[in-house]
Amino acid sequence: MKLLAIGILSLVTLTICLFFSVGLYAETKAKAPADIKMEAPYKHKKAIATLSHQKHTTDYKIGCGECHHDDKGKPLTNLKEGDAVQSCFECHKKPGEIKGKKAKGLSKTEKREYHANAVHDNCVGCHKKWNKKNNSKAAPQKCTECHPKEKK
Ligand code: HEC
Ligand code: HEC
Ligand code: HEC
Ligand code: HEC
Repeated sequence: MKLLAIGILSLVTLTICLFFSVGLYAETKAKAPADIKMEAPYKHKKAIATLSHQKHTTDYKIGCGECHHDDKGKPLTNLKEGDAVQSCFECHKKPGEIKGKKAKGLSKTEKREYHANAVHDNCVGCHKKWNKKNNSKAAPQKCTECHPKEKK
């Protein structure tokens, strides 16, 4: 009787261990990094901005399709952890930001061919809207809030 009890107990323990290790494995395999340095392959004038990817998806509950889309600009709403994801620069592949005189006469889409214009439209665009709607300043809009003064 005692032996049987020990047998059952160890089986239960084993099952629990297996359950957790499989769960852990799936998690480490598929997660995007918690924080992403928004570096792109051109010379940056400002300190690189960081996107708290995990906070944006988990805490702020923003859907993948708010930021990721396909080659037609159609939101990738069904994106799952572990899927291959293209960097913004692969499509918005002109270096840096275009503004002022040089940007005059260009359509929004033409300006968005520049990496920083596309990224600013996305990040700053949402932050402005969200702050206004929530009467808040929590979502950064100021240059130095995303590009800290000291070069990191
Ligand atoms: C607030 C905007 C935003 C949201 C929301 C978002 N992502 Fe991302 N994600 C990004 C940006 C920006 C990058 C970096 C792209 C680059 O390097 O140009 C990225 C990168 C990734 C990467 C690649 C990481 C790497 O190191 O190669 C994966 C995978 C990913 N995202 C998956 C997801 C999934 C799944 C969701 C939804 C649960 C999601 N993302 C939601 C903006 C976002
Ligand atoms: C596979 C190519 C591709 C990738 C990768 C890509 N984009 Fe785009 N993006 C497009 C196309 C095509 C459009 C539609 C043309 C336009 O409006 O500029 C677009 C549109 C946009 C728009 C305007 C959306 C709107 O609703 O008006 C923003 C902002 C943007 N992209 C930012 C980003 C950011 C940020 C990333 C990286 C997380 C990214 N894009 C990755 C191709 C891409
Ligand atoms: C669709 C909306 C949305 C988009 C797109 C978005 N954010 Fe945010 N972000 C938020 C919200 C909402 C907050 C503040 C939430 C809070 O504090 O409650 C925030 C906060 C932040 C913060 C300050 C707090 C933290 O988590 O570090 C930084 C920095 C930031 N975002 C960077 C970025 C960058 C960089 C991008 C573009 C790659 C981006 N965000 C795109 C909605 C967005
Ligand atoms: C919500 C965050 C955010 C805010 C606010 C923001 N940026 Fe950016 N910016 C980015 C991200 C992300 C990139 C992509 C590359 C990087 O991180 O440097 C970028 C890229 C750039 C680039 C091209 C790369 C370089 O360093 O040469 C310039 C220039 C720039 N930003 C200037 C500004 C200025 C000026 C302001 C204020 C008017 C500003 N940004 C506000 C997030 C932000």
